[in-house]
Amino acid sequence: MANYIAEPFKIKAMEPLRVTTPEYRRERIEAAGYNPFSLRAEDVYIDLQTDSGTGALSDRQWASLLIGDESYSGGRSYYKLLDTARALFGEDYYIQPVHQGRAAEKVLFPALIEPGQHVVSNTLFDTTRGHVGLAGGVPVDLVTEAGRHPAVPADFKGDIDIPALKEFIAAKGADSIAAVMITITNNSLGGQPVAIANMREARRVADRHGLPLLLDAARFAENAYFVKRREPEFADASISEIVQETFALADAFTISAKKDGLVNIGGLLGVRDHPALTAAVKSSVVAMEGFLTYGGLAGRDLEALAVGLTEAVDEDLLRYRIGQVQYLGARLEEAGIVHQTPVGGHGVFVDAAAFLPHLAWHEFPGHALAIELYVEAGIRAADIGSLLLDPDPVTGEAQRAVAEFTRLAIPRRVYTQAHLDVVADALIAIKDRAADVPGYEIVEQAKVLRHFTARLRPITR
Ligand SMILES: Cc1ncc(COP(=O)(O)O)c(C=O)c1O
Repeated sequence: MANYIAEPFKIKAMEPLRVTTPEYRRERIEAAGYNPFSLRAEDVYIDLQTDSGTGALSDRQWASLLIGDESYSGGRSYYKLLDTARALFGEDYYIQPVHQGRAAEKVLFPALIEPGQHVVSNTLFDTTRGHVGLAGGVPVDLVTEAGRHPAVPADFKGDIDIPALKEFIAAKGADSIAAVMITITNNSLGGQPVAIANMREARRVADRHGLPLLLDAARFAENAYFVKRREPEFADASISEIVQETFALADAFTISAKKDGLVNIGGLLGVRDHPALTAAVKSSVVAMEGFLTYGGLAGRDLEALAVGLTEAVDEDLLRYRIGQVQYLGARLEEAGIVHQTPVGGHGVFVDAAAFLPHLAWHEFPGHALAIELYVEAGIRAADIGSLLLDPDPVTGEAQRAVAEFTRLAIPRRVYTQAHLDVVADALIAIKDRAADVPGYEIVEQAKVLRHFTARLRPITR
């Protein structure tokens, strides 16, 4: 029987949810061009589209909003955030608040990438990949063999493939590479952790070739929790100590604070020991995000983030949160539903290619299962598969993802065990009629980050 770790908090405010019928949802999803991003949120019962910005603030965060300093420059809230972030990530970082993760990417990459240079990663997230491309760079993902097999468990499936990294540098030359970037946890692979040992090795390779090592660290605390549990060297370390060890390995980082930062909006950009890059970042932030001491956020947002960063490394909260994800994973396992195993930090990634074996990758099985979940029980999930990948920017050819997942991302501190049971039961019900689930084709798409706005239709055979 799946084990559920009880909430280490109680609920102080509630938000009602609307219950709808399958007929109503069928009509809504058709009107939305079969794209869950285009649904109205009030037509969704359980929203597992993302864990980004969808978490519940704590009472301490709500209280902090009232003392936000809204000065244009030099506000008290900025300094509070700076002190908290430096204590956590390293005193020698220049730390810049920005309005969310992709703003950090938008500011950092043009300052770092020469046109045509590669950014080599364990797996770049879609916005990161998009911004590498917009800055003239070429994204490269080097996934390990363990990361490619959803059904086969491994401790650190999120790692970068070190031999492949060495080979890539040898083949292309260090000059053709702008940076090595490690995404922690590896979102696209299922929120899978990256070992400190792997990051140390990547650091050594980067040093040998004079390359900067960057972190995309949206889920730095969840990664640290897995490191503590799975890397014996860190069994007795605190989560903050592991976070410090992680960030000490990097030259720069981007963080979407909407995940482990426990806020609804916000991001951070950090740069270490690089005056020229820091200067470029500052001038770009002033032009694009706002003055340096607010970076596109309100003073109250900075306050909430400062509190969020301290709550993020609370081990009890992390044990419960990852326990919730493991509970849903265990329920699916009992039902024989294949998913990325072991589950990652922020959600369960169902192997849609295994769930819907009659669909080809270009019929978007991850998306097809997400649509079915919505019609079945009002659950909103997301494709993390080939629909997420834009066509190759040079050849225009469709790109095939390493895996076709339907992501059930769990917002932090929002849903209960009963909600997770609704999700598991819905998947079990769909499994019984899986052979009838249609694939999808794209009717309309944007050039970059197409999955957000694409319109699709079911393929009728
Ligand atoms: C790993 C990773 N990097 C970057 C981003 C982009 O952050 P944001 O949505 O705050 O722009 C995300 C968001 O989901 C992410 O998961």
